[in-house]
Amino acid sequence: MLGIYFRGTGNTKYCLERFLDYYDGSKPISIESPDVIEAIRKSQNIVLGFPVHYSNIPKIARDFMIGYALSPIDIYP
Ligand SMILES: Cc1cc2nc3c(=O)[nH]c(=O)nc-3n(C[C@H](O)[C@H](O)[C@H](O)COP(=O)(O)O)c2cc1C
Repeated sequence: MLGIYFRGTGNTKYCLERFLDYYDGSKPISIESPDVIEAIRKSQNIVLGFPVHYSNIPKIARDFMIGYALSPIDIYP
């Protein structure tokens, strides 16, 4: 499982690290990492972590999901 996070202060990264520790021990990467596209290409299942902003998904996370919505990759927000 590839874990990708978008975060401001670090809470989302922390939560995703704890989830992946429990799930399979993998380490999450930032949505802003230059390695994220290559990591996605190698992954079938992706969990996307983001904070709630104004009772909604942050724009950067939404744009990211829409950008991949028509691909054969499964993304779990
Ligand atoms: C611009 C902004 C808007 C937010 N809107 C909400 C909100 O509508 N509801 C909520 O419960 N928390 C809201 N929060 C709080 C964050 O979701 C919360 O602090 C989160 O844990 C931050 O995660 P991060 O450390 O990964 O950025 C907001 C925070 C920011 C910066």
